[in-house]
Amino acid sequence: WGPIGHRTTGAIAENHLNEKAQAAVRDLLGPETLAEAATWPDDMRSNPDPFWQKTANPWHYVTVPHGKSYEAVGAPDRGDAITALEQFSRTVTDESAPLADRQLALRFIVHIIGDLHQPLHVGNGTDRGGNDVKLKWFGKDSNLHSVWDSGLIDFEKLSYSELSAWLDSKITPEQVAQWSNADPDIWMVESAALRDRIYPESGDLSWTYRYENVPHVKKRLSMGGIRIASYLNALFQ
Ligand code: ADE
Ligand code: ZN
Ligand code: ZN
Repeated sequence: WGPIGHRTTGAIAENHLNEKAQAAVRDLLGPETLAEAATWPDDMRSNPDPFWQKTANPWHYVTVPHGKSYEAVGAPDRGDAITALEQFSRTVTDESAPLADRQLALRFIVHIIGDLHQPLHVGNGTDRGGNDVKLKWFGKDSNLHSVWDSGLIDFEKLSYSELSAWLDSKITPEQVAQWSNADPDIWMVESAALRDRIYPESGDLSWTYRYENVPHVKKRLSMGGIRIASYLNALFQ
């Protein structure tokens, strides 16, 4: 996701933390909100340090070829979003680790769970998560990945606070119960299933694609927020 998507998932998550997770997040981040923390790993992409230029890049996505499961394929040697999520989960709960490392870990956890809910961050391994699918979006040169990271969201013309408040107001207690889990395998299966249905027939996308897909975007952002909260609630229990 782009900045509005990530902040939206972070802001929704903030509203669904239990008391223990709220306290743990406050101890680690102080006044920094989960909405702010959520965009940190992307904000740092302009940092010339090789950690941000190379090492951290593969941590934003996974590859699950069509018809395969993540478990069957596994992670590449350079790591991926799942190996990063596992490592950062160990660091954030390690009370002997330096505070700066634990803060970084928490920011990445929030960001990675958000990204795993963007269907094209569970790539099929053929087109860099849709980055290579060049197309026009309302007449401008774009690509499928970018349409899903930000194109569809930006067209709503809402700030992240407006979007998160709107989406959260429509999440029912039944949905919270149904969606709450700390199991990335489930999130990846959902994303891959949606991914396989969003490749467009034409290379010229506008209103029709938007009407058909904005509901999916809203649902994935809502689910991402609930899952960030579930994951942190489980981690800090
Ligand atoms: N590069 C390769 N695969 C990718 C994906 N699924 N998302 C973002 N960047 C990628
Ligand atoms: Zn992306
Ligand atoms: Zn990312």
